[in-house]
Amino acid sequence: PGLLLLALAIGYLCGSIPFGVLSSKLFGLTDPRKQGSGNIGATNVLRSGHKGAAAVTLLGDALKGTIPVLVLGATAGPLPAQVAAIGAFLGHLFPVWIGFRGGKGVATYLGILFALSWPAALMACATWLVVAFTLRYSSLSALVAAALSPVWLAVAGARGAVWVGVLLAVMIFLSHRANIARLLRGAEPRIGKRA
Ligand code: G3P
Repeated sequence: PGLLLLALAIGYLCGSIPFGVLSSKLFGLTDPRKQGSGNIGATNVLRSGHKGAAAVTLLGDALKGTIPVLVLGATAGPLPAQVAAIGAFLGHLFPVWIGFRGGKGVATYLGILFALSWPAALMACATWLVVAFTLRYSSLSALVAAALSPVWLAVAGARGAVWVGVLLAVMIFLSHRANIARLLRGAEPRIGKRA
């Protein structure tokens, strides 16, 4: 139990790093919490019009999920890695550094998937891209990709990690409550458009 708690804490501290806030500061942009949807993720940083800052956010928020899971997997085994995955995801949603008001977890979830099973992660990225290119809603792409990710984990042979995929997918749906409401009333902004 001590090891699992440590894994949770390491994951959480990594996940708490708000790359959207940091990269916006670095590039001299408006704080993402004060523009668009108010979310700290790459989709909302892109609403500043700065693609580089959005790319840094996407990569940083993904890697903070990938790295602790890979490190814990290599040093302590699969269960600590899975617990670190949950920690990193929770860190992004409830970051200690910025008053526990974090993001929605999509990039971090994808980063975690890369560490749990890269073929499953590629399938999840492909799912996101197909929905994004056809319908142009970031949130809807994330919801579809999250819902299918447990299936991709199973298909890729990572059966032991399916429970993590299900848990994180449920949390993605919860973190997108406002987006789901906007999608249903046809008020969700398309990718790159201001909210
Ligand atoms: O990654 C979050 C995305 O799915 C929605 O972001 O800013 O449109 O609420 P946003």
